Amino acid sequence: MDRLAIEGGIPLSGTITISGAKNACLPILAATILTDDRCVISNVPDLKDVYTMIDILNSLGREITKTGDKVEISEGSVKNVTASYELVSTMRASISVLGPLIARYGEARVSFPGGCVIGPRPIDLHLKGLRALGVKIRVEEGYILAEGKELKGNRIYLGGHFGSSVLATSNILMTAVLTDGETVIENAACEPEVLDLAGFLSGMGAEIKGAGTPTIRVRGVKKLKGIEYSVIPDRIETGTYMIAAVATNGKLFLKNALPEHNLALTDKLIECGGEIEERSDGIEIRRGEGKINSLDVTTLTYPGFPTDLQAQMMSLLTIANGLSVITEKVYPERFIHISELNRMGAEIILEGATAIIKGVDKLSGARVMASDLRASAALVLAGLMAEGHTEVSRIYHLDRGYERIEDKLSAVGAKVHRVKE
Ligand code: EPU
Repeated sequence: MDRLAIEGGIPLSGTITISGAKNACLPILAATILTDDRCVISNVPDLKDVYTMIDILNSLGREITKTGDKVEISEGSVKNVTASYELVSTMRASISVLGPLIARYGEARVSFPGGCVIGPRPIDLHLKGLRALGVKIRVEEGYILAEGKELKGNRIYLGGHFGSSVLATSNILMTAVLTDGETVIENAACEPEVLDLAGFLSGMGAEIKGAGTPTIRVRGVKKLKGIEYSVIPDRIETGTYMIAAVATNGKLFLKNALPEHNLALTDKLIECGGEIEERSDGIEIRRGEGKINSLDVTTLTYPGFPTDLQAQMMSLLTIANGLSVITEKVYPERFIHISELNRMGAEIILEGATAIIKGVDKLSGARVMASDLRASAALVLAGLMAEGHTEVSRIYHLDRGYERIEDKLSAVGAKVHRVKE
């Protein structure tokens, strides 16, 4: 298993080009099941999760080629409707093929995704939404068996205990576009990735109104056509590097970043002492004078502060002035990075779903272990901030969601390299 070796304490300086959004392109790739026509998707990041989704589409019988940032799905139809345990168990976003398979072929057999290191991740909202459209669902031998040849539009309230769901909204949206009549999704997720998926589907000929708001209206059409489409820039990659600039006392220009997708983070970074300039071609960010101010951060669904930046924000706040508080309202158990940050000299305690962070003067390099994608990014940031040498092991998590992270960081002055094993 590869490791990242980092010499900390160097302010990052220069330009990083932001890649396409992982969480936008995964459902978009799944949505190509909805047509037999050729589709070309560009600005697709080179990530493990993207290859897993390509493997799933291949296993269903579609032919796919990836050249640079372009993925071409050749004309042709799906030959079988089973997404296997072997593939689904490596990536929960695989559940995104369920809606398109039902909508286009009237049946699907998709492995039930299991738990996850960031906490329980149920799929009750996905199943509730599909049932409301007339899909019959049963679970057998660890697989969701879904059937529904004559689906009918419906009004669906898609809110759960933790609010809206990104992938449940996407799954129901992808089903509704080929479902007879009108479907109204209430308490729909408003994340930019859902809006991007709706843009892709509309380009294919779907009739969608209200995407990006809590009420999405879809009028089903008989057929969708292939298109060429470019996915949005990754707001979580952007946010990670924004935090890195402030955390290392550096200055970065994040080319292609969309400021409007990171308003909650921008607000918090200004409050803690960052200086941000929103430009038409990206975001410029630097640390202002003096120490970092402590913060009170609560993760929420969009446009609130994203759970996918919670761990990285925690790394920054380990060196803030005084006590900071982070409350996790999307995944209340997503705190596995705390013990590793404490190994680097941070002082963090957990009270339920709230982390209390007592700012220290500096972190100290250590050998730490990554546990999930965003926690890994947080440990890399901590390594960049720390005095001395840090080694982050199990970085296969990072390769799932950050394109060429060590190259991008090295190009802005970081001393970081991959140790192959
Ligand atoms: N939830 C339910 N029932 C459901 C679905 C979700 O109770 O049927 C709960 C979840 O347990 C969680 C909350 O609703 O408490 C929100 O989960 P959501 O369904 O929105 O998460 P997701 O769609 O499975 C996507 C991203 C995650 C990101 C979350 C929240 C993709 C591929 N994944 O997951 O990204 O954390 O939204 O914003 O889009 C990551 O990139 O590292 C990552 C984990």
